[in-house]
Formats: sequence, structure tokens, C-alpha cells
Amino acid sequence: MRTHVCAQVNENLIDDVVTVSGWVQRRRDHGGVIFIDLRDASGTLQIVIDPDAKEAFELADSIRNEFVIEVTAKVRARPEGTENRDLATGMVEVYATRLEILNRSVPIPFQLDEDDVGEAVRLKYRYLDLRREPMQKAMRLRHQVTRSMRSYLDGHNFVDIETPILTRSTPEGARDYLVPSRVHDGQFFALPQSPQLFKQMLMVAGFERYYQIARCFRDEDLRADRQPEFTQLDIETSFVDEEQIMEMMETMIVGLFKDNLDTDLSTPFPRMPYSEAIERFGIDRPDLRNPLELVSVTDLMQAVEFKVFSGPANSKSGRVAVLRVPGGNSLTRKQIDQYTEFVGNYGAKGLAYIKVNDLAAGVDGLQSPILKFLPDEVVSAIMERAQVADGDLVFFGADDATVVNDSLAALRVRLGHDLDLLEAQWAPVWVVDFPMFEWDRANKRWSSLHHPFTAPKADQVTELESNPGSVLSRAYDMVLNGTEIGGGSIRIHKSDVQQTVFKALGIEEDEAEEKFGFLLEALKYGAPPHGGIAFGVDRIVAMMLGVESIRDVIAFPKTQRASCLLTEAPGGVDSQQLRELHIKLRNKPKPTTSDEQNDS
Ligand code: AMO
Ligand code: AMP
Repeated sequence: MRTHVCAQVNENLIDDVVTVSGWVQRRRDHGGVIFIDLRDASGTLQIVIDPDAKEAFELADSIRNEFVIEVTAKVRARPEGTENRDLATGMVEVYATRLEILNRSVPIPFQLDEDDVGEAVRLKYRYLDLRREPMQKAMRLRHQVTRSMRSYLDGHNFVDIETPILTRSTPEGARDYLVPSRVHDGQFFALPQSPQLFKQMLMVAGFERYYQIARCFRDEDLRADRQPEFTQLDIETSFVDEEQIMEMMETMIVGLFKDNLDTDLSTPFPRMPYSEAIERFGIDRPDLRNPLELVSVTDLMQAVEFKVFSGPANSKSGRVAVLRVPGGNSLTRKQIDQYTEFVGNYGAKGLAYIKVNDLAAGVDGLQSPILKFLPDEVVSAIMERAQVADGDLVFFGADDATVVNDSLAALRVRLGHDLDLLEAQWAPVWVVDFPMFEWDRANKRWSSLHHPFTAPKADQVTELESNPGSVLSRAYDMVLNGTEIGGGSIRIHKSDVQQTVFKALGIEEDEAEEKFGFLLEALKYGAPPHGGIAFGVDRIVAMMLGVESIRDVIAFPKTQRASCLLTEAPGGVDSQQLRELHIKLRNKPKPTTSDEQNDS
């Protein structure tokens, strides 16, 4: 078999005879001489076959792309002027003396070096897609990243422990994937949305420092950064507070970027309370590379006659805010219409604006269809608060605070890209001081902003019952460039506090007992104070590579519609299997569609 891998064949081997094997990346016939770019996992190597090597030459004629071959050849320096310094092997070429076809390939459905291959075909032939340079790079970086994570945690005495995949429902807020039990008629396992409860029980068990590169399963609406199964770096530690966890995790992430990208993230990462993030950016995962900020003008709009603004300004849940766009004066009517349509996707009913032509000229120097609805002094006060300059444009959002926040936050991101405003390459931030609960309007009850095992701030425990909406939690999220890459908290380690939180969430005692009785019980046996965090490994690797979708850093991902185009999972099962599982289908299963489209 082979004596060298492709990348090893360099000028040090000149005059040696080597045997290499791999795939035919490309075959070129240069009138009498055949060139083959041979590819293996290490790289590519150029093979020359001239007619003197008669047998090899004849065989080479029948070779096509992606055939697997083995070549024995003599290494020579490339003739002057034909070297390729971009290639590790570019100073040499090897003259084949023997060639063997180890396997043939039928014509491949797309060229490996093509740029615009449709995602559906890439996913269907994922094993070919994975042969391509960018995918090879992605999977190798991913390996290096998890290796760095393991090495850091190992160096800090963390123990890698596996937790069950067949388990009970864990509340991370998504739908569960369920697995029917054959042995227990009518009963189901749930696949874990995260190892949350097990890692807490490992703290009760006295391990003090746990980690796991854990697969998590969530049946939720998928997006570019969400897959139904994804990978967390899951961590839990005992006898620590949030400061210690955040510091240790920050050091790990900084090391990860240094080791794998040779990038220095600036430290310490800024901390931002949740309320400030919402106020300034409309979202709890602000992209701090983007200089645009929301400025509240609710108070200034209370007395105006223009109902579009005064309505929300006088409503308890309303907000009126502006977004100043430096240089935005040059936006055309058409562009503004497009942005208006864009914010409509987030529920905004309009997108009023004022263009600033000449600030010194007062209101006369402004231009807007809404000026006639607003008193001059209000307009001046807005301009002053938003600190506008000549050439700027100010957008307005007025509605329920959630609509204003969602729409202006999205507009801010879009303008940041459209106008090329991003100021740095990397902008990490810790978001802290989250509320414990948010009001779930649809179900008219409180729900956890993180998960129900998150501890409240120590001095607010009594308010859990009297005023749940005011209680802040001991949770923290790590946000990078507007993506939440990790989140965690100090946990509740006392059974009675945990019960109180369940109660605030409207989970009755018997329901709590039924669902989480084992945890409540475990907390009674000397549970240590503990806390942890989980990072989205797929998201971190995708960001490091600068790819849009985490599908591009997962070897075998699912489509936007949660199916696998390669194996055509999910698929039907035969009636015997269903009978064993005590399951009767309500409808005849539909045939699987293989022409599924992937939109984003
Ligand atoms: P959380 O639900 O915030 O916390 O998840 C932690 C991190 O996992 C990533 N993530 C995802 N990545 C890809 N696809 C998904 N569908 C997906 N969902 C989440 C995100 C997120 O920051 N048990 C808690 C952690 C803890 O409290 O320690 C948990 O799972 O990057
Ligand atoms: P109208 O009175 O509906 O013609 O609106 C006048 C201006 O206000 C237009 O530029 C609309 O886009 C804008 N507008 C309407 N509703 C809102 C809103 N809820 N928030 C911000 N701007 C709005």
C-alpha cells in the first residue's frame, strides 16, 4: 500500500520512489502527457504520466474524476516556471511508473470545486459534499475546537460523564422528541433537550466539576442557527458563584479563539444587564459590532396629538423609540419603503422617519411626512436626545414594547449589514440580570426566561410569591456578534425554593412531583450550591468559520423541515413494529418527499 500521503511528497524526496493513493480530483490530457491531481485527506499532489510508462498511460486514459487510484512514481523537481507555491507539494511532480485503479466512480452529481451547488443535492450526497474543501475544513476545525474544550476542562479537573439519551422530558421550552416503549405499553421516553437535570444530580453525587459534549434534541421551528439535534458543551460545577463560572468560561472561550483562529478577543467581556440590552438594542443578544442604538422617546410623545405615537406612549405596555442612522439621509424613498415592509414582518404597523438636512435651521432643516403632526419643541427634544447630526435619518417605532423592540432590533441588524456599519470583527458580551419570569400572554401565566431550575437573586426569594415579575435571576448568557453562544445560571439547590418556583410557574405540587419528583428528592440529600452553563458547539464553530448556517458545520444535518435527505429519515415502519410498540396510526403515512427544499 501507500508509502506516503500526498502532502508529504515534497522536494526532500526528489529522486525517491513513492506510492501514494487517493481520489482523482482532476485529469487533464495535455496532448501526449496526462496530468492527474490526486487528493487524499492530507492534500493534493500532481502526478504526471507520460507515454513511456505504457501500461499506466493506457490505464490513465480511462480514469475519470473521483476514481480511487494507487500510483507508484518517481519524485522530480518541477521544471522551472511551473512550480506552484500555493501548494505544499507544488515544487515537485511525480512521474508515475505504475498505476492501479482501486475503485471506479460513476459520474458525480456535482463538481466538487463548484461554488453554487444546491443544498438539497449536497445533503442528499453528503458523503460527496464532505469531500469538498470547505466541508473538510469545517469538520477538522470542529474537531480542533472540541479538542481545545476538552483539554481546557481536563486541565481544570472537570470529569467527562455521559448522561442518558432515553430519558424523561426536560423543560428547556421546546417540544420533546418521544420514543415509544415496547416494554411499557403506552409509555414514552423523551430525548433530552439538554442534560440539565442529570448534571445537577451529578453535583448532588459529589463530582463537583462535570462536562460533556452532549447531543440535545428539540422539536422546534428550525432556522439557520437551530437544528433538531445539536451539540452542547455542557458544564456544571459546585461551590462556585456566577463570577467564578463566568471568569472560567470566558478564559476558555478566549483560549479557543486564540488556539484555533489565532484571534485575541478583548477581555474582560463587557457585562450588560438584560434591561439595558432591551432598552438600547431591543433584544437580549445584542450585536455590539453594530453602533446603532434605540433611544426611548416615550415620555416626549405622551402629549402629542398624533395618535400613532401618543397611543403607545400612554399605554402601560407601549414604547416609542427612535433609531438614528448616521448618514441615513441618503436613503431613497424606495429603500425606506423596503425597510417599512421589513419591519412589518415583526408586527410594526409603519416606520415613520425624519431626515436631517440642516440641524442649524431648526425644524425647517428637517424633512418628514410626520413633522406636521408633531409640535416643534417635541421634534427638537427628540433630535437632541437622539444626538442627530446633519445627514442623519431617524426611524420611529411606536407600538407595544415587544413589537417596537423586535422590529427595531431586526432593523438595526439589517441596517448594520446594508450600510456596512459593523465596527469590529468580534464583539462578545455577557448578558446578566435576567428576569426570572416572563408573562406568557397566550397562556396567561408566568414562564421561565431560562429554565425552572435557575436560582433567583438571593435577596429576592421572598418576592417569588408576592411579585414574581420583579425577581431577577442568577442567569448569564454569553453573546457573540449577536448570537447567543452559551447560557447558564446558578441553580436552586434547596427543595423548598424549587417548589416555590414551580408554584410561581403555575406547576401544581402533584404535577411537579410527577415530572420532577426525582430532582426535588435529590435536592433534599445535601445538594451543594451549584451552577453551570452550556455552549452551542455548532454555533461557535459556524461563527469561527464565518458560515451562515450551522448545517455547514454538522456532518449529517437535518433540513429546515427536520428530515435527513441522505437517509430519508424519518421514515415509515412496518405494522409489526408498530404493534409491538402498542401504536396505531390515525392516518396512513404519507410517502416521504425527497425533493424537499431548504430555504435558509
Ligand atoms: P440553552 O437552552 O440556552 O441552555 O442552550 C444552550 C446553548 O445551546 C445552543 N442551542 C442550540 N444550538 C443549535 N440548535 C438549537 N436548536 C439550539 N438550542 C440551543 C445555544 C444555547 O446558548 N440546560 C441549559 C444550560 C444551562 O443552564 O446550563 C440549556 O440547555 O448556543
Ligand atoms: P399614517 O398616519 O398611517 O399615514 O402614518 C404616518 C407615518 O407614520 C408613516 O410614515 C408610517 O409609516 C408611520 N407609522 C404608522 N404607524 C407607525 C408605528 N406604529 N410606528 C412607527 N411609525 C408608524
